[in-house]
Amino acid sequence: ADSTIYQASTTAPVNIAVVKYWGKRDPKQNLPTNSSISVTLSQKDLRTHTTAACSASFPKEDTLRLNSSPQDVSGARTQACFRELRALRSAVEAADHSLPKLSTLPLRIVSENNFPTAAGLASSAAGFAALVRAIANLYELPSSPTELSKIARQGSGSACRSLFGGYVAWQMGSKNDGSDSVAVEVAPASHWPTMRALILVVSAEKKGVSSTSGMQITVATSKLFKQRAEVVVPEHMELMEKAILSKDFESFATVTMMDSNSFHATCADTFPPIFYLNDVSKAAIRVVEDINKKAGKIIAAYTFDAGPNAVIYFEEENLDVVAGTLKAILGELDGWQGNQIKVQGTEGVDD
Ligand code: PMV
Repeated sequence: ADSTIYQASTTAPVNIAVVKYWGKRDPKQNLPTNSSISVTLSQKDLRTHTTAACSASFPKEDTLRLNSSPQDVSGARTQACFRELRALRSAVEAADHSLPKLSTLPLRIVSENNFPTAAGLASSAAGFAALVRAIANLYELPSSPTELSKIARQGSGSACRSLFGGYVAWQMGSKNDGSDSVAVEVAPASHWPTMRALILVVSAEKKGVSSTSGMQITVATSKLFKQRAEVVVPEHMELMEKAILSKDFESFATVTMMDSNSFHATCADTFPPIFYLNDVSKAAIRVVEDINKKAGKIIAAYTFDAGPNAVIYFEEENLDVVAGTLKAILGELDGWQGNQIKVQGTEGVDD
């Protein structure tokens, strides 16, 4: 038998939402109850590197290793990604019989994060984006980032936004088959080159309530949730796109903070309530408020995902005051990461 090993590698960046995805209208396909927007962070600081290989010489089962430890691939999300990519490859093979039948071979995926996994640092976003792109490269699929975003979305909703650099929207779509629930570029990183982020690792422990189960309980029990999905987020989406396109930092920052607050309010309104922020997270919010008060305008914005770690957005010219003040007050934290993180360009993302 042919023992050729076919192989391709790629990297994918982390993205941090400034208008948050929280709620699934179709949990099977990861179709969201609202659209969202994120900023893609530089892969120099945060990225997943993934190699996808396939060969008739591999053991029959598909395998995945993350940071050297074997992962369960039997879950519906990973299976959906494998199935969709194999179907696309199989169509290409059917059209050109000279191509090797890679779609029938077992996959061996090896991934590595250059940052702590599952610390609420959007590791699943970079992880599934890298997995989908690596297999698409292995299969030589002629798919655009938006096409691949549909597949990555089924791995982890937020992963669809990590197929692009810069400023990215995930349009919720309206179709039941998910064909219009895709990621699109709002603006490339080069559009707003002074944007920076800081990450405050308040706790590197694995998060308490997973985003999937958290969302489901919120959708089922929170009475604030409907207002957020139907009124608050559509307004935030419009304001955020405008803020990005006009590089209006004060508006960008205000919507970022209000949207994070709105999302965590629906978590607190979930029954039983979900608390992702801890006392240090709340202290970070106060520090950002002080920074802005002292500056006389809004120069820093906090946002929190499904965990206590803060991401602080600011513009380069304010690095010293933002990072300096945060470090002076919170610098004793183990996880202090005082390095400014740039926004990822398109190079290396949609190559
Ligand atoms: O991609 P998931 O299913 O882990 O959900 C991510 C949810 C948030 O990070 C809280 C918000 C977002 O839009 O990324």
